[in-house]
Amino acid sequence: KSSKLGTAVKYLNRAFWLSLLAGAGSFYYYTKKDRSPGPQIPHDPTKKTIVVLGSGWGATSFLNTLDTTEYNVVVISPRNYFLFTPLLPSVAVGTLSARSILQPTRYVTRHKTRFVEVIEAEAQSVDPVNKTVSFIDNSDIQGAVSSTSISYDYLVYAVGAEVQTFGIPGVDQNACFMKELNDAEKMQRRFMDCLESAAFPGQSEEEIHRLLHMVVVGGGPTGVELSGELHDFLEEDLKMWYPELASKIKITLVEALPSVLPMFSKSLIDYTVSTFKESKIDILTQTMVKEVKDKSVTLAMPDKSIVEMPCGMVVWAAGNKGRKITQDLMAKLPTAQTNRRGITIDEYMQMVGTDGSIFAIGDCTASSHAPTAQVASQQGSYLARSFAQRVKGDKLKAQLDELEASAATILHDDERKKVVEEAESVKSQLAKFKIRPFNYSHQGTLAYIGSDKAIAQLPVMNGSFASGGVLTYYFWRSAYLSTLFSLRNRTLVASDWVWTKIFGRDVSREW
Ligand code: FAD
Ligand code: NAI
Repeated sequence: KSSKLGTAVKYLNRAFWLSLLAGAGSFYYYTKKDRSPGPQIPHDPTKKTIVVLGSGWGATSFLNTLDTTEYNVVVISPRNYFLFTPLLPSVAVGTLSARSILQPTRYVTRHKTRFVEVIEAEAQSVDPVNKTVSFIDNSDIQGAVSSTSISYDYLVYAVGAEVQTFGIPGVDQNACFMKELNDAEKMQRRFMDCLESAAFPGQSEEEIHRLLHMVVVGGGPTGVELSGELHDFLEEDLKMWYPELASKIKITLVEALPSVLPMFSKSLIDYTVSTFKESKIDILTQTMVKEVKDKSVTLAMPDKSIVEMPCGMVVWAAGNKGRKITQDLMAKLPTAQTNRRGITIDEYMQMVGTDGSIFAIGDCTASSHAPTAQVASQQGSYLARSFAQRVKGDKLKAQLDELEASAATILHDDERKKVVEEAESVKSQLAKFKIRPFNYSHQGTLAYIGSDKAIAQLPVMNGSFASGGVLTYYFWRSAYLSTLFSLRNRTLVASDWVWTKIFGRDVSREW
């Protein structure tokens, strides 16, 4: 009996090592293949040119899905990478390193069949009549040429949105944002600076409390997730390294509406509020920030009184507004583009009021969907698929033109009849040819709320399933891990999580 058991253990042992070896081998093979893409076919002047503006969720998803054999593609974006925004608050407190959630745009484009030109530049204006985009290199280092323009046959407009400040005084000058990578890095520096300044000898108690008061403005998912991450940093690391200060750190979340997270169900809102209460994160609802000063925020309280709240850092997460280039483009089509929230598009992503050559996706648009990564990426991949369809339509049209032209020149009756019949058949194929409209499939909404807890509102059958807690947090982690675009990013994020668990977050303040 014991020898049978021994044999079973031996085989199990072998199977374990073999599968480990196979796993390591396929990981090596996959990464090697990923890092050595083959040669690409060059641009073809007979093909149409698609200019893509942006390298965010919409644009990257479009590029990932697009079949480049039939198009020349040029990407223009001021940042040469894709940023995985859902994990940005984790970067702000050092749970993840910045590089783990970036994917260079060239990683995507280098794997396409045809060469895709990537230009790191900011588009300045779009001319929908002459079909051109002008752009500039506004990075620190510029060559002899730093501004030019390009012609397009199709424009995929995916420039996202910028932070909404409502023109509230002091926001631009005194607050940090949570939109781009440098916002997270700036916030981290400011946060650590507040701590070190509070530790400066001779600081009064009042000043220490001010410096250690962190105010987050906006009770949408960005503000809530950031507050949760700040709380984790405090509990898991700062208590250890700043024991004399940690108990004085205070986090306040300010929201103008009666409740935080209006897109979640009441039970999940209540769960978030009670988790924040346990975490000692103060929530001020029905409270509007009226001004952000160097050392305080001015609040209009629910009873209409005005309160000056001292603080060391303000993070502004009060929603989105259209970029200037978007407003300028819309102003060129004043009768068709009147929605103040963004570009009006039809169900094929075409910008209303144009001749069908401009497509807009993501946060720069005003549709019935929320401005989320989920929507932008579905729109991007839909649009790429529809471009494949469009080629078929274009080919049929070209075939029809050719047949009709040759029918007009053929003198022989029988031959002409044959060509006319063929043309009729192509015409009927063309009449049946239709590009399907965009159909959004909502996969649910997730948010991290700190203390290893997350909330999820998932569509189930025709209803909705609400869940919150530690298990949901592991679901949140696995959902985002699988959503990351590359194996490289997945590996980096997973290993950052492990290292943070083992060694904690770094509290050094970068200059
Ligand atoms: P973006 O991803 O913002 O991309 C815009 C691109 O355009 C960028 O590459 C930018 O550099 C480029 N660009 C800007 N100006 C120009 C110009 N003039 N010319 C050319 N290019 C330009 N959504 C979710 O669904 N789930 C989440 O968990 C989630 N978490 C989030 C967390 C945070 C902190 C934030 C800020 C947002 C989060 N979102 C989330 C929302 C999501 O990030 C956006 O909806 C999504 O990024 C929109 O995609 P987009 O392609 O329209 O814009
Ligand atoms: P948001 O628009 O969702 O929330 C901003 C909040 O700020 C609003 O509730 C608003 O009432 C409040 N606000 C505005 N001005 C204020 C003021 N002066 N004083 C106090 N409060 C004020 O913005 P957010 O969170 O940046 O999200 C933007 C988009 O990105 C949303 O569509 C959101 O769904 C999406 N997103 C999704 C996430 C997720 O699914 N986990 C995470 C982060 C963002």
